[in-house]
Amino acid sequence: MVKVNKKKTEQKINFFIKNLQSKHFEIVKPEFKKLKDDKYLNNPEWIFRKRSFAQGTIRGGKLSWKNSVSFFQSKKINKYAGGILRKFPKMSKHLKKFSERIIIENLINKKILFSNFNFGVHAIRIICNKYNRGYPVPEGFHTDGVDFVAIIPINQKNCLGGTSYLKKQKKNEIVLKNKIPNGKFLFFNDTKFLHYATPIYHQKGKIGFRDMLVITFLY
Ligand SMILES: [Fe+2]
Repeated sequence: MVKVNKKKTEQKINFFIKNLQSKHFEIVKPEFKKLKDDKYLNNPEWIFRKRSFAQGTIRGGKLSWKNSVSFFQSKKINKYAGGILRKFPKMSKHLKKFSERIIIENLINKKILFSNFNFGVHAIRIICNKYNRGYPVPEGFHTDGVDFVAIIPINQKNCLGGTSYLKKQKKNEIVLKNKIPNGKFLFFNDTKFLHYATPIYHQKGKIGFRDMLVITFLY
């Protein structure tokens, strides 16, 4: 009985942007420089996405990591890269520790999430240069096929763009258009909204980049 009520409270969430409780940004920033190419992009000539992945579980408010890094989305959820079992590079210890703190300090301790979840953490760097844009979501507006998603911007340099959008799944209505600043995070109910982020385009320097963490939660 109690379990149902917890879920009901969680499921009332639509979306919010909140300040991030984290003192560890500077430590984690260099980790994004080490991310490896995403080998599942459709254009091998312009690899605009680098990433790593880790997954785990939350049971009774306690978090634990799994060893597996296999990631599957159906073709229905992701027309761009769905329908295949993707094996992403494993996440570094530092990034996992940072993500763990984010989940505990911002979602569990703040009583936003109370239930048991499986979660996935994607560390992503999108790059652009003079000639090419970087596409955070080549598939366009989509859901991740989970219950909740947290988008955590970490760093952005030498480029513009990367504005986040949320759109109601049932109506064609944009409910959020926001460039989420570093130090804040976006949390939304993936069963109610489609999400999207605009491409990044080069402003100065050799390479522009945008680094973020995307954390998905599934009952
Ligand atoms: Fe997504």
